[in-house]
Amino acid sequence: MQNETAYKTYRIPSNVYLWEGVVNVPKLLFDPMKHPDWIPPQTAEWHANLELETGGYKYPWNSVFDEPRAEVIFADKIAACFKESTRILDVGCGHGEFTKTFSQKAKEVVGIDVNEGYIASAKAGTGNVTFLVVDADKPLPFPDDSFDVVYAKKGPWLFHKGIEEGHRVIKPGGMALGLYHCGTDGGLRSLFPGLYYPLPDNYLDGIKAKFERQLSESNLEKIELQIFEEVEYLSRPVDVLIKKCFGQKEALKKIVWQECLKNVEEIFLRHTTPRGLKVVNYHALMIGIAR
Ligand SMILES: C[S@@+](CC[C@H](N)C(=O)[O-])C[C@H]1O[C@@H](n2cnc3c(N)ncnc32)[C@H](O)[C@@H]1O
Repeated sequence: MQNETAYKTYRIPSNVYLWEGVVNVPKLLFDPMKHPDWIPPQTAEWHANLELETGGYKYPWNSVFDEPRAEVIFADKIAACFKESTRILDVGCGHGEFTKTFSQKAKEVVGIDVNEGYIASAKAGTGNVTFLVVDADKPLPFPDDSFDVVYAKKGPWLFHKGIEEGHRVIKPGGMALGLYHCGTDGGLRSLFPGLYYPLPDNYLDGIKAKFERQLSESNLEKIELQIFEEVEYLSRPVDVLIKKCFGQKEALKKIVWQECLKNVEEIFLRHTTPRGLKVVNYHALMIGIAR
């Protein structure tokens, strides 16, 4: 569970949790990412497990949020430009729950995702929303100038330098938007060393620079970037582990629970608030207008 090498390579933040009775030596929790059965998140195998676990791209832990949630901020930005004639494309729509929220407001909504399981779940009760299995890394099955709004909520961004498909399918003057989750902290990483690792120094500056570069190379105009925080409260100790291990196999989760749950409970109970354990999610919101 803890060895000399892991301890030496771990950079200890100043406010790290110190275990009682062991002076100045932080105990590292079991690191599931070092287990040979760890599946890298966002791979096809990881999505297949999550689909089995939740029936879609859903976060399986229990939590509550301070308002406004990131996705409400994003939905408001998308809806701000709607007319009755608006046609929208959601790239990497997952199981389509967010996509469907626009069905009453727009003329047509299309959600695409490469994962067949997510699209099969999305198709239930769809109204004027169409869901298609499409690999967004390949040419898209839509004519030129098809959409007034093209957005990605954590899905593939189609306005990277060298990618033509976003510009081809969006109408001139159309709006491109992206919302990306850029990690969680707010104390979580120093409370549970080993299970989580500290973010690099100047992490948010690096994130900002990365998205600024992405937008400046996008050939969109009137570009806008917001890096913002969302406050979430994890409801139970086990939610710290579920957040780390969603999309992993049940056998690995069982090992992690055995190795960590008792210690995680102890730390959680010391630091929790009446709403739960407070953590902060970082998000990047990109907006640009097509030429
Ligand atoms: C982080 S999930 C976000 C899902 C959903 N938009 C949400 O916010 O809940 C990323 C999604 O992008 C999809 N995706 C990844 N690569 C893709 C590609 N090349 N073409 C289409 N969809 C892709 C994944 O299958 C997954 O559903």
